[in-house]
Amino acid sequence: MDNILVVDDERNIRTLCSRVLAGDQIEVHGVGSGKEGLQTADEVSPDLVLLDLRLPDMDGIEVLRALKARHAETAVIIITGFGQIQSAVEAMKAGATDYLEKPFEHLDKLKLAVARALEEVRARREIQRLHRLQEKEYRVDQLIGDSEVTRRLRDLIGKLARSEAATILIHGESGTGKELVARGLHYESARRDFPFMEVNCAAITETLFESELFGHEKGAFTDAKAAKKGLMELADRGTLFLDEVSEMSLNSQAKFLRVLQERVLRRVGGTRDIKVDLRIIAATNRPLEMRVKDGQFREDLFYRLNVIPILIPPLRERRDDIMPLARHFVLDANTRFHKSIKGFTPEAERLMANYQWPGNVREVRNLIERLVILGSSDSIEPQHLPVQFAAQARQPVVTESSGDEPRTLAEVERAYIGQIMQRVESNKSKAAKILGISRQTLRKKLMEE
Ligand SMILES: Nc1ncnc2c1ncn2[C@@H]1O[C@H](COP(=O)(O)OP(=O)(O)OP(=O)(O)O)[C@@H](O)[C@H]1O
Ligand SMILES: [Mg+2]
Repeated sequence: MDNILVVDDERNIRTLCSRVLAGDQIEVHGVGSGKEGLQTADEVSPDLVLLDLRLPDMDGIEVLRALKARHAETAVIIITGFGQIQSAVEAMKAGATDYLEKPFEHLDKLKLAVARALEEVRARREIQRLHRLQEKEYRVDQLIGDSEVTRRLRDLIGKLARSEAATILIHGESGTGKELVARGLHYESARRDFPFMEVNCAAITETLFESELFGHEKGAFTDAKAAKKGLMELADRGTLFLDEVSEMSLNSQAKFLRVLQERVLRRVGGTRDIKVDLRIIAATNRPLEMRVKDGQFREDLFYRLNVIPILIPPLRERRDDIMPLARHFVLDANTRFHKSIKGFTPEAERLMANYQWPGNVREVRNLIERLVILGSSDSIEPQHLPVQFAAQARQPVVTESSGDEPRTLAEVERAYIGQIMQRVESNKSKAAKILGISRQTLRKKLMEE
């Protein structure tokens, strides 16, 4: 139900609004003075206020300002009498959404303006809600892990977030959480209410790079039918995240370096210098130093970006994170897929802790999601895990002296296939030959994961 407040000293205007606007979905309150208006607004927190600029007790603009200060999300439509356009302009500057002239000759106009304003309020609330959700999702406590490395990383993010503008370069293999860290840095900082804009340097062509980042003026090139702001301008006062920065072309690097040094940019085809206030965070999964040595990356840009390096080690080098992450993803997947998997058997935990995780945290997340979706038992057991887990376990799985719990034949088979697959570097023909089964049978067994 939407709430509308009409503040006008003319009773017939209040009655008219009430008659035209009130309905199943809309409640209309009417008052005759500025003071009453503010009071009622505090009581009912209206979605929309229709405000007469000429009131007996207060100046309408003053009421508008007080309203906006106390109820930032409320929309205000100004009602003006004949010849008050100048004040209407002033009111728009003070935050009014729209204005209507009295007398209301066309009631459709009134209805339309109200519908539009309510729509806007709803959209704004939705954006705020999403923003808050995002913020929660990317706060630093979302960075899961008990390892010393991850603890320090959480501390570091907190500290760096406070040190406003320093440029940061995040190094780490694919799936280690570079983007999560970048977002964490943004949402922990004072910039959190401004945009976090992301560019993937590997996905953007050299010709597009400039217009995407710096924007363009109308007519700058054939397709430029209207002027457009670039990502850097849109991210003003926020954070610009340059993902896969090693893939930026040398040409684009030169252009970007200039902006980084001078903190002003020029739209393509433009002549104005536009100032931008940005924190730059870049990420790379290839060693950037090597690219510099090979002449693929400008040394000066490298030093400009690498002011504060953050290194995220691969998951296999911080094994204490594996199980906390896995448990976290189980809880998360349970909620999303309406399941209630309790956890892992000790043997499954051992296999997971010893696995190499070439895809890092992303691999953990994807695997757990799959296991939870497909899972029918209470806990995740060794035979649910892909074969290569058994192969990589430190202890040989099939030996006479293995003092572990007795295993089922199926478990032993999976583990043995895994070992062989690893020995032949996943060459299925070779593995099938050693195992004495056909390639088809092997494929079937591998798919039973
Ligand atoms: N410490 C962590 N705690 C919780 N989730 C994590 C953690 N690290 C990574 N993730 C999750 O793992 C997935 C991969 O992380 P992210 O996208 O940040 O990796 P990346 O380093 O940017 O990878 P790429 O180089 O492939 O782009 C995401 O879903 C992310 O939320
Ligand atoms: Mg990424």
